[in-house]
Amino acid sequence: MVRTVLVTGANRGLGLEFARQYLADGWRVHACCRRPDEARDLGALMNGSNGAVRRLDVRDGRAIRDLRRAIGDEAIDVLVNNAGIFGGRRQSVRDLDYAMWEETVRTNVLGPYRVAEALADRIEAGSMKTIANISSLMGSIAGNGSGGDHIYRTSKTALNMVTANLARDLAGRGIAVLAFHPGWARTDMGGPDAAVSPAESVAGMRRRIAAATPGRSGRFLDYDGRPLDW
Ligand SMILES: NC(=O)c1ccc[n+]([C@@H]2O[C@H](COP(=O)([O-])OP(=O)(O)OC[C@H]3O[C@@H](n4cnc5c(N)ncnc54)[C@H](OP(=O)(O)O)[C@@H]3O)[C@@H](O)[C@H]2O)c1
Repeated sequence: MVRTVLVTGANRGLGLEFARQYLADGWRVHACCRRPDEARDLGALMNGSNGAVRRLDVRDGRAIRDLRRAIGDEAIDVLVNNAGIFGGRRQSVRDLDYAMWEETVRTNVLGPYRVAEALADRIEAGSMKTIANISSLMGSIAGNGSGGDHIYRTSKTALNMVTANLARDLAGRGIAVLAFHPGWARTDMGGPDAAVSPAESVAGMRRRIAAATPGRSGRFLDYDGRPLDW
């Protein structure tokens, strides 16, 4: 049976790697990005596959509704809510960019929530019934030893609560919801000195996604499967 995954922010970084690995495993991939016309690496990857590149800005409610219509009655086994932004440089207690804070919450919190909400019935129709929210250890309250980065941290903390809350709300429909820290990964966001390759990070998260069950829902996991404190 061919499995189906939908990945947001699939044109670069970890999202592109999710698309690459799922395609290589024979999955049907709905690879979402803001500007399909400019997504050359993704276009080359998807060329000849039975998947689809789909236009999606996760801040745009209408675009999410259009995506839902495009999916029709197809089942989605796994949703990877990967799209995210860091929120710029002005995140300190001395200098905070409020407009960027709002933008980051729209992208990192409302975006994943809305996509999950719109696709919940398609995920329920799937065989794996799993939502993976790509969060960050920087959203952990227990793990915050250094302060700073208010915008990014608070957005990922909120995404963690979305994860825990949706896990409860969707449990009756058999849907598992997980939050992941992908590690410090070598992408545009992580930078060239980051510790983990996208390939290793995504391979680890895919293993935990494959092992997800309703009984193990609502957890915050490192890419290598280690449970993290909220
Ligand atoms: N790399 C790390 O070390 C690290 C660590 C912890 C957590 N994370 C999380 O992992 C996820 C992926 O990060 P990454 O490292 O791959 O970052 P990245 O290289 O900066 O890629 C971010 C992706 O998100 C997309 N995106 C941003 N805003 C969007 C929007 N409004 N609608 C749709 N797509 C949007 C980007 O698309 P455009 O090309 O259109 O901008 C891009 O595809 C993020 O949620 C990030 O917070 C990363």
